[in-house]
Amino acid sequence: MMTTPLKRALGVCYYPEHWEESQWATDAARMAALGLTWVRIGEFAWARMEPQPGKLELDWLDRAIDTLGAAGLKVVLGTPTATPPRWMLDRHPDMLAHDREGRPRSFGSRRHYDFAHEGYRAECARITEILARRYGRNPHVAAWQTDNEYACHDTVLSYSPVALKAFRNWLAQRYQSPQALNRAWGNVFWSMDYASFDEIGLPNLTVTEANPAHQMAFRRFASDMVVEFNRVQTTIIRRHSDYPIAHNYMGQITDFDHFAVGADLDIASWDAYPLGFLSDRLTASPEHKRRFVRQGDPDFQAFHHDLYRAVGRGRWWIMEQQPGPVNWAPWNPDPLPGMARLWAWEAFAHGAEAVCYFRWRQAPFAQEQMHAGLLRPDSAPAPAHDEAAQVARELAEMPDQGTAEAKVALVFDYASAWAWEVQPQGRDFSYFRLVFETYRALRRLGLSIDVLPPDAADLSPYALVLAPGVATLSAPFLAALATYKGLSLIGPRSNAKTVEFATPVPLPPNLPGLDATVARVESLPPDVPVHLPAGGALRHWREKVETSATVVEQSLDGWPALIRAAGLHYLAGWADEVALARILTRLCDEAGLATEALPEGLRQRDSATHRFVFNYNAEPVHWQGREIPAAGVDWQPLPAR
Ligand code: GAL
Repeated sequence: MMTTPLKRALGVCYYPEHWEESQWATDAARMAALGLTWVRIGEFAWARMEPQPGKLELDWLDRAIDTLGAAGLKVVLGTPTATPPRWMLDRHPDMLAHDREGRPRSFGSRRHYDFAHEGYRAECARITEILARRYGRNPHVAAWQTDNEYACHDTVLSYSPVALKAFRNWLAQRYQSPQALNRAWGNVFWSMDYASFDEIGLPNLTVTEANPAHQMAFRRFASDMVVEFNRVQTTIIRRHSDYPIAHNYMGQITDFDHFAVGADLDIASWDAYPLGFLSDRLTASPEHKRRFVRQGDPDFQAFHHDLYRAVGRGRWWIMEQQPGPVNWAPWNPDPLPGMARLWAWEAFAHGAEAVCYFRWRQAPFAQEQMHAGLLRPDSAPAPAHDEAAQVARELAEMPDQGTAEAKVALVFDYASAWAWEVQPQGRDFSYFRLVFETYRALRRLGLSIDVLPPDAADLSPYALVLAPGVATLSAPFLAALATYKGLSLIGPRSNAKTVEFATPVPLPPNLPGLDATVARVESLPPDVPVHLPAGGALRHWREKVETSATVVEQSLDGWPALIRAAGLHYLAGWADEVALARILTRLCDEAGLATEALPEGLRQRDSATHRFVFNYNAEPVHWQGREIPAAGVDWQPLPAR
């Protein structure tokens, strides 16, 4: 992917509207003295930019940008569309998204809008136009951010009348006739045929499950609404500004296709809250969560770094980096000393151009009072302040190089996350978890990984390509696979549905050059493993494959578990940690990739010039003759190639 030289930099999120204007210059001077380059502002300030409809007050923003710029900082200006002011609701009373029960969500926090609402989109276009005209060539502004964290607070799926109308339009365009839709969805099944698009409802509040094809279409529609909403803003910004445009994505959010949104942006960025994510969303054993409670999961950040590097086609940032305890997870521990530095360096090793801490000063009011910043509410430095300063000094000494191109690629596909949510078949089947566990197994072997979009058409840079759980393999990917010379591992549950969410006949997996038929599938409770004689087990999910291809491994009960034809392998179940480590080590050996089982909590990533080692443990680790400090990072130059 990317090996172009980069200018790595640090930054911070700042809310001038939260503080007395007399404080801005001091804040800006302290940011610059700390070694920060970027400052993101504006993304929640609509009510201060336009206190009444049409009554603009932007002088304060002019002065804030001037003050920050005069201190030598570069501004990322956010469009404020994640927080429509209260008056917006009087103008557009039907703009609120509705939850699954059909209830409107109310004003008083943020993200209270329906992506499909035309009137609100027009308001967003209006404020974006005003900002883009005014600041599109401002010498202190150097990048844009659209909105804030699409999908945060479960805001993509809306069951509102507005969404219903837009969904019907979307369906009419996609299927052209109700008859075609009925055929595609198999509506004959329970007398669900429609005579007109106006008869079609949203797939909530049905007596039992709605047709999965209906649900899948709704998921695709909802994702498209995010893409359209974002595009309204990027189109306008580009008319007035040449500065790159980013959006700040989140961790483990799959409700919209980030690759599709990313196609309209220049930079992918994400908001990394390692301790919040560990507490709030990671699926892991209690022991694992205890061990890493103050450090975060050793793979969760890296996975998203690699994912968003792909979404940004090589260009990516961290727009918000956790600096201390957050306020929103079930438990909010204090990070170990060193983690605010380690997290930043890990991002840079994975090719980040910038890491911005969230936020400058902890707010003494409103929802996030309990969320740390680089400064305490009394402006004294909080612990992450000095760690950021250390990173800034270290950056000044490090050559500016991008991350190394990996030899292993892992496909990530948002539509597959929707597909297996719509039809898990086993209660704990999770696409994200399946891919993440595969990623973790690769990283434990010390490998650097590139994430690929599902329509990747060139696999030639890689020695090993993996695609677990991709519901429908794309035509370009299948074509690339047919001529690919390296090793690949496809499955489980790959190519198992058509685009319209039917079971393909001939039966899956339908892979080039592989004679195999998935004749039966079963899901199993997590405490019912199916052992593999060579070690480890299949869990959650497995498939009975009929094949004339080579059976590399079979389960104790005789079902083929891993089959191959030439370099192409199909894995007929969800392999656990032990089985995956074994299978992947063997594939890497064959592919000529050096592996080494890393000590628990230790991970590495190659940049173009260095090998970085990250110790997520609370104790030092002795490794390869060196001591990597607790919560520490170490780097060594790579031998010249
Ligand atoms: C992010 C959000 C920020 C702030 C932060 C707190 O999700 O973008 O505005 O709320 O979380 O951790």
